[in-house]
Amino acid sequence: MIPFFDISSENAKYLDFFSSELKKFIAEGDYILGNHVEKFESEFAEFCGTSYCLGTSNGLDSLRLIFEAYKKIGLLQIGDEILVPANTFIASILAVVQSGLVPVFVEPKINSFNMSYEDAKDKCSFKTKACLIVHMYGQLADTDLFKKLSEENDLILIEDSAQAHGASKNKKKAGSFGDASAFSFYPTKNIGALGDAGAITSNNAELINCIESLRNYGSQSKYNYSYLGFNMRLDSLQALFLSKKLKDYPTNILSRQRIASFYCSNVRNEKIKLPEYPNNMSHVFHLFVVKVENRNHFIDYLEKNGVGSHIHYPIPPHKQKSFLKYNHLNLPLTENNHNKVVSIPLYPSLNDLQLKKIVDVLNCY
Ligand SMILES: Cc1ncc(COP(=O)(O)O)c(C=O)c1O
Repeated sequence: MIPFFDISSENAKYLDFFSSELKKFIAEGDYILGNHVEKFESEFAEFCGTSYCLGTSNGLDSLRLIFEAYKKIGLLQIGDEILVPANTFIASILAVVQSGLVPVFVEPKINSFNMSYEDAKDKCSFKTKACLIVHMYGQLADTDLFKKLSEENDLILIEDSAQAHGASKNKKKAGSFGDASAFSFYPTKNIGALGDAGAITSNNAELINCIESLRNYGSQSKYNYSYLGFNMRLDSLQALFLSKKLKDYPTNILSRQRIASFYCSNVRNEKIKLPEYPNNMSHVFHLFVVKVENRNHFIDYLEKNGVGSHIHYPIPPHKQKSFLKYNHLNLPLTENNHNKVVSIPLYPSLNDLQLKKIVDVLNCY
């Protein structure tokens, strides 16, 4: 069986490094924030091309901290409307709702998994104060168009870059297009930690100061608390591991892009709709997602023929029980995507034989 993802083989090459670093780490006792976190923050800010980066506990908390900080510095208020893609992972919407803001669900573009500029423009009103773009599956959203929409309507532009570390356009990377951006280093992400971890990037010093305080109980100096804050810090041990992984990441992106273009050039089957994307660095292939009509049948077939797969995601956020209030919404393009999507294996440790087998299985369906 070719597994959908093989996390232990992806991390196996770091075993020696991590074992020896762990011994030093225990001896040093620098366990909360401190040097490892600061080092990773400055490396990740440089990687993204932003002035600042703050490590956080995970991707959802990164988004929560961004919204909370915008409320604290007076640029958002409870009840403000936020444009969000309906076609996303639930965390993007949860962060908006948990911050007391109102999500306005925007459909994806036709033949795309990313948010439609036209639908966003139509749904933008005097109550809209921010736009959250999600770079779905690793592909940059239409950053120029959403920047224009934000400038014309005085909106804060926030990126959810949880799936798109390093995706770039004209050398500008995910995390540097908006006013602030959230990242996740969940273990299966392109840069994955050994547990939960996240980050925020921005060029806004005031926002970053506020987030720095909010992530650490609202403290601005030891035992002085200006805000009702949280404990949403990046774990130091994860920071150490992430620094190491970040160094290798450019090669990881190239492997992912090579595998994606192998699939696109070799899979020829009318029953399987391949993703459409421009042939440049704007897609880092966190996931390779195809669309099929009879999904259960297709997944059974893959399973019987030794190819693992996964669904990202089977039920859209607005149809979840937790979002009862939004269940009535009619978002046909989003629902169509969620009914048809299947992710097939794409990770750097897949070898040529495995790739050939996957292509053969797909072509014989
Ligand atoms: C688009 C998107 N946003 C936010 C998150 C939340 O990240 P985390 O799982 O680190 O909280 C994820 C990841 O799972 C995601 O895919």
